Amino acid sequence: MTGNVGAAARAVDVWKSYGTGEAAVTALAGVSVEFDRGRFTAIMGPSGSGKSTLMHCLAGLDTIDSGDVWIGGTKVNGLRDKGLTELRRSQVGFIFQQFNLLPTLTAEENITLPLAIGGQKVDRAWFDTVIDTVGLRDRLTHRPTQLSGGQQQRVACARALVARPEVVFADEPTGNLDSRSGAEVLGFLQRSARDFDQTVVMVTHDPNAASYADRVIFLADGRIVRELHHPTAADVLDTMKSLDGDDRLVVA
Ligand SMILES: Nc1ncnc2c1ncn2[C@@H]1O[C@H](COP(=O)(O)OP(=O)(O)OP(=O)(O)O)[C@@H](O)[C@H]1O
Ligand SMILES: [Mg+2]
Repeated sequence: MTGNVGAAARAVDVWKSYGTGEAAVTALAGVSVEFDRGRFTAIMGPSGSGKSTLMHCLAGLDTIDSGDVWIGGTKVNGLRDKGLTELRRSQVGFIFQQFNLLPTLTAEENITLPLAIGGQKVDRAWFDTVIDTVGLRDRLTHRPTQLSGGQQQRVACARALVARPEVVFADEPTGNLDSRSGAEVLGFLQRSARDFDQTVVMVTHDPNAASYADRVIFLADGRIVRELHHPTAADVLDTMKSLDGDDRLVVA
């Protein structure tokens, strides 16, 4: 395998199916992709095309059938339970559509939870940088129910970044937000990559959200079928339409 050994995350000919026999579904059909350090990549594609599966396999949340998955210099599919737990805790950060904050903890406690679980000290200077970037300084003692959806998602962003993971994965992070709150979260993810060299991989259905990314990858039927660099929302929309067209041709 030639390629970028310094990539923050890498999939090499990854195959993944669910179920067996007649019920088997091929979710990933030979995906090879690299995510360079400090870049913001969006993953798009129709429902069921394998976007979440790819992210989960990259992050060690799901197993693969064949191929290899790397996070930084660590081969994820070579890890056993303890190594996997450690990788998920320290090398990957997650942002979900549903925020997934703990209701009994304050914003600050939610943000520092991954560090607390790992018995790590909070790097105060970094914590302050993250808090000021997401604009949560005056909300740190609030609990999730006392925060708006946009604020809750910014807490989730801060939580994903606080341990300085190799990669932040976000699965439709703006799916539950109004356009203004969504733009704040997207702006934050973009700055994380640009200013803090944070690698970010985001699944989205929204061409406008994808246009914040440096690169957009399109999946269809478990394969990468197209890639755009620094596209506008209109470029993304055009590509989505052309891929839809391809699908109709295949069906016909
Ligand atoms: N745990 C599972 N068990 C069985 N099949 C699954 C499982 N997870 C995903 N699949 C199947 O694998 C395929 C890819 O699913 P995946 O969730 O990766 O799609 P997606 O691109 O994220 O879709 P969406 O945009 O709807 O979130 C689908 O056909 C799905 O039904
Ligand atoms: Mg999904």
